[in-house]
Amino acid sequence: MFKTAFLDLPPLAAAAGSVRLPGSKSISNRVLLLAGLAEGTTEVYDLLDSDDTRVMLAALEQLGCTLERSGSVLRVTGLGGRLKVTQAELFLGNAGTAMRPLTAALAVLAATQGGRFRLSGVARMHERPIGDLVDALRQLGCPVTELGQPGFPPLQVGSGAAGALDTATPIRVRGDVSSQFLTALLLALPLVSQHHPVAIEVMGELISKPYIDITLRLLERFGITVQRDGYQRFVIPQGSAYRTPGRIHVEGDASSASYFVALGALAATEHPIRIEGVGLNAIQGDIRFVEAAQAMGAQVQGGDGWLEVRRGRWPLKGITLDCNHIPDAAMTLGVMALYADSPTRLTNIASWRVKETDRIAAMACELRKLGAQVIEGPDFIEVAPLQHWQSASIHTYDDHRMAMCLSLAAFNPLAGAQPSVSVRIEDPRCVAKTFPDYFETLFSVVTAAPGAIPVLTVDGPTASGKGTLAAELAQALGYHLLDSGALYRATALAALQGGVALSDGPAVAGIAATLDIRFEGETVWLAGQDVSAALRLESTGGLASQVSVHPGVRHALHALQLSFQRLPGLVADGRDMGTVVFPQADLKVFLTASAEKRAERRYKQLIAKGISANIDSLLLDLQARDERDKNRSAAPLKPAEDALLLDNSDLSIDASVEQVLSWWQQRKAPKVSG
Ligand code: DC
Repeated sequence: MFKTAFLDLPPLAAAAGSVRLPGSKSISNRVLLLAGLAEGTTEVYDLLDSDDTRVMLAALEQLGCTLERSGSVLRVTGLGGRLKVTQAELFLGNAGTAMRPLTAALAVLAATQGGRFRLSGVARMHERPIGDLVDALRQLGCPVTELGQPGFPPLQVGSGAAGALDTATPIRVRGDVSSQFLTALLLALPLVSQHHPVAIEVMGELISKPYIDITLRLLERFGITVQRDGYQRFVIPQGSAYRTPGRIHVEGDASSASYFVALGALAATEHPIRIEGVGLNAIQGDIRFVEAAQAMGAQVQGGDGWLEVRRGRWPLKGITLDCNHIPDAAMTLGVMALYADSPTRLTNIASWRVKETDRIAAMACELRKLGAQVIEGPDFIEVAPLQHWQSASIHTYDDHRMAMCLSLAAFNPLAGAQPSVSVRIEDPRCVAKTFPDYFETLFSVVTAAPGAIPVLTVDGPTASGKGTLAAELAQALGYHLLDSGALYRATALAALQGGVALSDGPAVAGIAATLDIRFEGETVWLAGQDVSAALRLESTGGLASQVSVHPGVRHALHALQLSFQRLPGLVADGRDMGTVVFPQADLKVFLTASAEKRAERRYKQLIAKGISANIDSLLLDLQARDERDKNRSAAPLKPAEDALLLDNSDLSIDASVEQVLSWWQQRKAPKVSG
């Protein structure tokens, strides 16, 4: 997962390959609650692991449910409809799918069994309406107190005293703000259906009906068949009780699929994008996004649990669509609209205004930053095709879908953007709400425009601190890291192990050409052996300096080094990164510090590790390596002509990082930012 402050997406040009989707958020949280309320143990397969499911799991644990994980299976032992804990404070983040159903379920349990629970979330959760649900629960006789603003969380449900509820009178609930209120009641009321059938009547036009279908399907799996009259009246039969289905499988998230369906429609020109985990028979309403994408031009094939998408019509076709049935996935259409031949108008989307953020306002603002013409209304948005693309820094409003759908703007080269532009996604971590590995998954199936993957090089003499600087830069930018010195060190080790003399250039080059090396975080594997510690030894550095003088060795390692230039970008450190290996790098830094300073730093490092050292001999050693690295004929150590020099003799690591990042910003940050 990218935890950086921002993620720069370079211009992208093509897509192909296969992705597996994480489990559906809506199904995951409903299944968790049902399993938590039911009698017995439910084995849940392929549950989504994300912020929203994590808060639901934490809440269930606080309420006394037993959770056991083994591999991709979670075993939930439920309460069987009886409170184990009568008081708790539940923090539910920004998860509407946890807040609404837990409020209803705990309200009826607390009222009938004597309990008191407080439910709160992040600041945005406290701006998301829940008044209609509170009204419905009060009709039943449940004590509910709004602890902040009327109609919004935080809430307290129950007073501690047990009493009877009025389940004989139909409960009326509004359906035109969020369908989650009705879902919450449908999930909660079977808990109090002992004496009467319980009826719910929906007032106003019910929005997002497909989500109610998911609720009804899952209730059925847990033994409850709701009788219904259209989407107006629902009756829970008397004596309903939750029964675990034993095992249940969570299908892939259809809303998450929308980004990859769009990707196929935009950029899969040769081979399709294959999506695993959700198919045309999915129970989630957002699967109908496929039809909307087809109307815009996508070619889609699908079966049980899979979809394959490729580009059909190009440019895409602008559409006008009532999106009430696909509120979440419809955001993706708003970005596809940039690639169309006429404006796209998405209507009946008032619910966007009360989601993780006001999504109509947010989409309009961010699409305009890219240069698009957007018209917004209370319940619609209209987006015109984009001709003059601008590089933009996309604010994401702590809304996962803003980050995921706007990432598709990086395909602007396909729309003929001149010049093509990069897209900065601010706070990319917000995708953790439903799809923590979204960007990694995206990068696994897309190709950047030629020469577009950014590279930052840090060259310098030994012990100049370039390794530390490069690692910190890579971390701050979310880029890959190439420690090229490690390749020379590993070559030297492998040569020693193979009994090859380090002075035998051609023989060592042969070893370098077939180096079996793998980087895994901090760990380096050489021919299956963990050599991380051996690589870092001073003595290994000296040996590396010897093998690195051979032109054949340098040549043999060249392609391997180039292969590190992968999306979203690379920070490479060494001696010749800016001069020989990545001469086109976007920014080249040459790090220097006096030999005395470097010897002193190395001395402190060794002492801190408990290794005895002598500062004078370290200095001599350093100077000898500097001489050899500078005076060799193959790729001698020297600053590239266009390198920026950074003397860090008197700079802390943080100050050096800050300096380089500010240079990087000057070169790479979007010119137009919000
Ligand atoms: O950066 P380092 O100390 O891990 O590098 C070890 C040796 O490898 C160094 O003395 C010279 C050589 N080297 C090189 O020639 N070119 C590079 N790009 C990186 C390292």
